[in-house]
Amino acid sequence: MKTYLITGGAGFIGANFVKYLIKKYGLSAKIIVLDKLTYAGNLQTLENELDKIEFIKGDICNRELVEYIFTKNNIDYVINFAAESHVDRSIESPEIFLKTNILGTQNLLEVSKKAWLIGEDEYKVGVKYLQVSTDEVYGSLGDTGYFTEETPLDPRSPYSASKTSADLIVKAYIDTYKFPANITRCSNNYGPYHFPEKLIPLIIKNIIEGKTLPVYGDGKNVRDWLYVEDHCKAIDIVINKGTLGEIYNVGGHNEKQNIEIVKIIIDIMAELTSKEIKYREVLKTEVGNINENLIKYVKDRKGHDRRYAIDPSKITSELGWYPETKFEDGIIKTIKWYLKNQQWVNGVTSGNYQQYYDKMYNEARQNIIK
Ligand code: NAD
Ligand code: TYD
Repeated sequence: MKTYLITGGAGFIGANFVKYLIKKYGLSAKIIVLDKLTYAGNLQTLENELDKIEFIKGDICNRELVEYIFTKNNIDYVINFAAESHVDRSIESPEIFLKTNILGTQNLLEVSKKAWLIGEDEYKVGVKYLQVSTDEVYGSLGDTGYFTEETPLDPRSPYSASKTSADLIVKAYIDTYKFPANITRCSNNYGPYHFPEKLIPLIIKNIIEGKTLPVYGDGKNVRDWLYVEDHCKAIDIVINKGTLGEIYNVGGHNEKQNIEIVKIIIDIMAELTSKEIKYREVLKTEVGNINENLIKYVKDRKGHDRRYAIDPSKITSELGWYPETKFEDGIIKTIKWYLKNQQWVNGVTSGNYQQYYDKMYNEARQNIIK
């Protein structure tokens, strides 16, 4: 049995990864989730998994707590998803991004290094730390070209600067202490449980509510979209097969302009809700209002990166990973999920899930360390 410490496991990708692991490995994976439950972390997302995992509410920056988790458990893998993740918020308030994303990462590295070290530069067999990073560390592309693992780091937002700093600390631990780690750098994810401040879930939510659809600048910025389950598969493969010390880019070869994404979502939602009453019932507006008149071009994001596009050939050729979900299928699955799970959306946007947490906390006190 392998023991995973999954930080940020109540967030979008982390929670999808927890579900993926349980589905794939069942009881042969012992899963400990450490999550601070910020506005982006939602324990309700893990409602059906709580009897199969150990959930700990806490901060990755807390040295005592992380050490305690390591003394109580024989951790094989640390997968660090925990982060402040929204670029717009990082522009407003950079400091928490530096604390969590940089200092939190260093704290996890230091504690796991101490716990795993068995001799000089020698570590327990089979252990690994995986840093979940982003393609945003490479900066912004022009109309052509792709990010490879060799592309120079050139972060341009406080978020991407904090993620880049974290990557460099991980690299320093690899180079200096021969620490057993990998870094994965992924493009934009989409799928279920995505907090509705990010483009795709925000557009779906606003269409349901009959609100305008904010498109930054000219709408022609490009992102390379990857279905979250494909990202989870990539992480699982890197944990099991990745060569220690290596960086792997993970991307979907799915480049789309933001305005294209918005129009695709409008078309699919108009069709689904006009055909099926169960979807129409969810709307707080009329089906006839779902059209391009909802689009509103708004002031551009400061320093808005123009284009991201990943070259995933290293992870494909060396580890056999490839994105399985076509965008056309993934986006329909995602939209249907949001239409069916309005309770989740309302919970996370109203903050009610914090009350849900308090209830869970009282019921499961014995599993939770303060
Ligand atoms: P998210 O914002 O949905 O979730 C982050 C989680 O981390 C939340 O559950 C939050 O409560 C938790 N957290 C925040 N600060 C913490 C702290 N100090 N201690 C413990 N937990 C804390 O983010 P996400 O979209 O799931 O992203 C997960 C990781 O993947 C991040 O590291 C992000 O940089 C990276 N990433 C995301 C994308 C994407 O498209 N979403 C793409 C590439 C990389
Ligand atoms: P986002 O989902 O915030 O991810 P990231 O900035 O990490 O790529 O944004 C995706 C793209 O969509 C980005 O180019 C900014 C743009 N965007 C809008 O045009 N309108 C919005 O309301 C949001 C949230 C993003």
